[in-house]
Amino acid sequence: MNDLILRAEGIYKYFFDSHYGKKTVIKAVNGVDVGVRRRETLAIVGESGSGKTTLGKVLMRIYEPTEGKIWFEGNEISTVNGSKLKAYRKYMQMVFQDPTSSLNPRKRIFDIISLPLKAHFNMSKRERLQRVRELLNKVDLPEDFIYRYPNALSGGQKQRVGIARALALNPKLIVLDEPTSALDVSVQAKILTLLTQLKEQFDLTYIFISHDLSVVKNISDKIVVMYLGYIMESASTEEIFNNPYHPYTKALLSAIPTVTDEERKIIPEEITLQGDIPSPSHIPQGCPFYSRCQERMDICKIKRPRILQIKEGHYVRCFLYDRNGGK
Ligand SMILES: Nc1ncnc2c1ncn2[C@@H]1O[C@H](COP(=O)(O)OP(=O)(O)OP(=O)(O)O)[C@@H](O)[C@H]1O
Ligand code: SF4
Ligand SMILES: [Mg+2]
Repeated sequence: MNDLILRAEGIYKYFFDSHYGKKTVIKAVNGVDVGVRRRETLAIVGESGSGKTTLGKVLMRIYEPTEGKIWFEGNEISTVNGSKLKAYRKYMQMVFQDPTSSLNPRKRIFDIISLPLKAHFNMSKRERLQRVRELLNKVDLPEDFIYRYPNALSGGQKQRVGIARALALNPKLIVLDEPTSALDVSVQAKILTLLTQLKEQFDLTYIFISHDLSVVKNISDKIVVMYLGYIMESASTEEIFNNPYHPYTKALLSAIPTVTDEERKIIPEEITLQGDIPSPSHIPQGCPFYSRCQERMDICKIKRPRILQIKEGHYVRCFLYDRNGGK
């Protein structure tokens, strides 16, 4: 228990929308439990709209959970605000998907990276210049970028600035929200390598959000598969790849392009996901995955399966493995 740096229980996040007087509730996250051990990388995987970013922002306390509790190093942070929340912000940072929109185009790189230093530490400008130069070195960018504007940088360079900004306060945990998906393929691998090196160097813990299992395969220790705000399956990376249970996980795995015979052996036969993910404002009554599941049964339409531990550390939400469960 003690080596869990972050733990969350029963997390719900609803957004309340009103269009032409008609109220809708968007149920983005629906009762998620997660635990992240110190120095590990936990991947959160799922298609667009499955609630990954929302969950990441709730865990960071960028959003307040609608329901549920979060502990950081054993201290509950679910409802802290003001100066107490600011104190936790130092330890938890987020790197966003789109480096272009997450960097203010009117600010120079120095101002962007030093903003958190200004907000949290009483540092002189000279000290901040020194620290920003150091951080640029850490992310393999030239020091003279300090006076440039984001527009003068490539996508990969901008994301390096985003990473430097996240490192500025010496955080313990970083949520990486699809940090490579907006980048060219050739740049993606370099950013992943950099993130791996930084993790070692600074003893970091990562929550790595991605829609692509192949991206997280080599960097994550554990994988949580989400669909419509529900955890469908969670296990070690090895288990998810070698022994997937949930039909949704199998479909995501089957979409991964395989290269070697070894990989082909562990990837399930091609399963094409038909149709779109339903709207989180109209989550089906039974299993959230019912409308697209090739193995669905009558019970799945009426009852919602519970998440169940199938074996040590491996959790699955599916009636195929839990005939009597659900509600
Ligand atoms: N601030 C918000 N207000 C209202 N609805 C929101 C808000 N943020 C997210 N949502 C909705 O919540 C659902 C989950 O969104 P979220 O961005 O968390 O998914 P995601 O898994 O990160 O998707 P993607 O892969 O596209 O980034 C979506 O239907 C989205 O439209
Ligand atoms: S509970 Fe039923 S519909 Fe849901 S994933 Fe399992 S088999 Fe498919
Ligand atoms: Mg997202």
